[in-house]
Amino acid sequence: MSIGRRPPGSAETTSGRASVLCGLGGWVPQRIVTNEELSRRLDTTEDWIITRTGIGERRAVDPGQATSDLAVAAGSRALRSAGGETPDTVIVATTTPDRPCPATAPLVAARLGMRGVAAFDVSAVCTGFVYGLATAAGMIAAGVSQRALVIGADVYSSIVDPDDRTNAIIFGDGAGAVVLRAGDPDELGALGNFVLGSDGTGEHLITIAAGGSRQRSSGQPPTRGERHFAMQGKEVFRQAVTHMSSSARASLAAAGWQPDEVDRVVAHQANLRILRSVADNLGIDRDRCVSHLVDVGNTGAASIPLALDHAAANGTLRPGQRVLLTAFGGGLTWGSCVLRWPDIDRGTEHGGER
Ligand code: UT7
Repeated sequence: MSIGRRPPGSAETTSGRASVLCGLGGWVPQRIVTNEELSRRLDTTEDWIITRTGIGERRAVDPGQATSDLAVAAGSRALRSAGGETPDTVIVATTTPDRPCPATAPLVAARLGMRGVAAFDVSAVCTGFVYGLATAAGMIAAGVSQRALVIGADVYSSIVDPDDRTNAIIFGDGAGAVVLRAGDPDELGALGNFVLGSDGTGEHLITIAAGGSRQRSSGQPPTRGERHFAMQGKEVFRQAVTHMSSSARASLAAAGWQPDEVDRVVAHQANLRILRSVADNLGIDRDRCVSHLVDVGNTGAASIPLALDHAAANGTLRPGQRVLLTAFGGGLTWGSCVLRWPDIDRGTEHGGER
């Protein structure tokens, strides 16, 4: 089908091939870091954390555990949930690769028994999962890929200064994954109406100053602050609300969906107050926002697929519902897309891990 024939609300691409979500899985490490534990060692209180962020606890890896370990666990659950053929593409969205070089995705693919497939990382911080979905959808639309595993995985505990009360209270470790297959635009689960954006003039708002070519070529050893994740929380809050709202609005307009037709908003899980502000801006009831913050905090690129997995598990997401995904992260980057929730078999048991 040709450009210009796409009806509103359709996930049809210029090639006529859509990407259909057909598998889902999540995984978080076992170690729980409670607000009470943080308030014992940082200048903060349990009350401040829950009221200012909505976060009740978060997970942290054991010493030596890396992003690929989480990604493999979530990825294998998504593959089991999807059943069917092995993907030909693996994309890992992460800010915390196992090493600066090489990418984490080839190792994840190999550990999942997929040697030989296309595998690469996407670096768009907390927007990484939505960028990864768009990349996979583009490859499927172009016929480069038939089936893709897209994983968001982050180990923020490895980059956040444990003594930094702003960031240590927010971030947690985790991974979530989906399988996308080539399908028809009108099927349940077809992803559509991606709206992506960035603004590099805001790069300093979320950053790790050291460890890249700028610092390494300077010959100057990094300070402690430069080695850790840094965020200007207040301004990031403002930018997150602005850009998630505007990209979501554009995605909904392209889909031809009115705000009151949206059943679930699954936004990047940064702060409960951000989720509510975005819903208010869009004119969508706050109770339609999926929130998983209380259990796992902000898990970076993992936050949207983990929230999807949690909501699918507890029945908050049901087949046929109109779902809006929207994300914001360092870069600055942002992105939104829509889908009607598919009838998928998660096929996984999370036991005590969530
Ligand atoms: O994932 C990428 C995107 N990330 C985000 O979207 C995160 C966005 N930012 C936020 O979620 C919030 O800005 C934070 C949770 C980081 C901070 O919350 P806030 O309500 O914006 O706090 P603030 O920075 O405006 O600080 C308010 C007060 C200050 O005290 P004074 O100056 O009013 O006396 C801070 O010093 O709260 C103080 N404060 C804290 N108090 C207790 C800041 N952090 C803490 C803390 N515990 N952990």
